[in-house]
Amino acid sequence: MAKTPSSKTAKPSKTAKSAKSAKPAKSSKAATPAASPAPGSSGPAVDIGIKDKDRRKISSELSRLLADSFSLYLKTHNFHWNVTGPMFNSLHAMFEEQYTEQWQALDEIAERIRALGYNAPGSYTEFTKLSSIAEEPGATKAPSWEEMVRQLVEGNEAVCRTARTVLDEADDADDAPTEDLVTQRLQTHEKYAWMLRSLLQ
Ligand SMILES: [Fe+2]
Repeated sequence: MAKTPSSKTAKPSKTAKSAKSAKPAKSSKAATPAASPAPGSSGPAVDIGIKDKDRRKISSELSRLLADSFSLYLKTHNFHWNVTGPMFNSLHAMFEEQYTEQWQALDEIAERIRALGYNAPGSYTEFTKLSSIAEEPGATKAPSWEEMVRQLVEGNEAVCRTARTVLDEADDADDAPTEDLVTQRLQTHEKYAWMLRSLLQ
């Protein structure tokens, strides 16, 4: 499980969003379409009170978040191995702390996709296709420590932008567990972006 310390802090208020998007009343629960089984599954249909189309949309955005998170995890670990220069000790340790937290979060994101009834992407090919973060080779050329930090600021910010898209979808569907998970990810990645950005100021 992720060790995010502030995991149970207050979520952003929904009032602003609810006000702006005068959605149709949700009273028509009887009209909720029948849930469909997970792709590739012959088991019972998923019927957790979230519409099929919302589960599909949220799972799809969560898959992009998983891909971004995995790409950033790998890049952070890569830089932990290959960082050089006068900042070696502190950056080596800082990167380790961050990739360890990120590794644990990957599992939670993937398992939320499964709980919504979909399969989680799990290959480098899928992650490369879905991710908005460019990968960085480690063996052939390692960037300077400043460039590593710059890339990790950008990577953490990219995860935040993708997380906000998931949050919007989850909020529209009243999917509180996804909102809670993604809010935790936002808190963590915004904090990491700030800490890394501060090294360059
Ligand atoms: Fe290590």
